[in-house]
Amino acid sequence: MKKILVVNGPNLNRLGVREPGIYGMQTLADLEHRMQELGRGHGVEIDCFQSNHEGAIIDRIHQADTLYEGIILNPGAFTHYSYAIRDAIASISIPVIEVHISNVHAREEFRHHSVTAPVTKGQIVGLGLYGYELAFFALINEKKGEK
Ligand code: DQA
Repeated sequence: MKKILVVNGPNLNRLGVREPGIYGMQTLADLEHRMQELGRGHGVEIDCFQSNHEGAIIDRIHQADTLYEGIILNPGAFTHYSYAIRDAIASISIPVIEVHISNVHAREEFRHHSVTAPVTKGQIVGLGLYGYELAFFALINEKKGEK
C-alpha cells in the first residue's frame, strides 16, 4: 500500500482558532481526518505529524525517506528561513510538495520568499486546505523514485 506523510510545522496546531480570517475555521484534526479519508478512498495510507520544533520536523523528514512514497509539507514560518529544513528535504529521495493555506504572496514581504520550495517537487499556495488534497493527487500520480 502506498503511504504518504502529511507534515505541518509551527503554529498549525492552532488552526481553527488562529487568525480564522486567514486560515479558516477548520482545525488541524479536521484537516488530518479529511486527508485520512481521502487516502482511504484511494487505497493510500496517510500518516500525519505536526510539530512546533525544527529538529523534530527534520527527524521526521529523514525517517520518511524509507517509509513513504512522498511528503505533503507545510513548514509554516520555517518556510521563510529554515535552511536546515531545506537541507533535510534535499537529503531525501522521495518527492515533497510544499503547501501553504494562505496566499503568502499577498501577505507581508517576509512571506514572499520560500527557502524550502526550490528543493521540493512543487508548491501550492492560497487554496486553503484544498491545497493539501491537490498535493495528495500530485503525489499519487507521481512515479516512484522520481523527485
Ligand atoms: C503558512 C504561511 C506562513 O507564512 C505562516 O508562517 C504559517 C502558515 C500557510 O499555510 O499559509 O504558519 O505556511
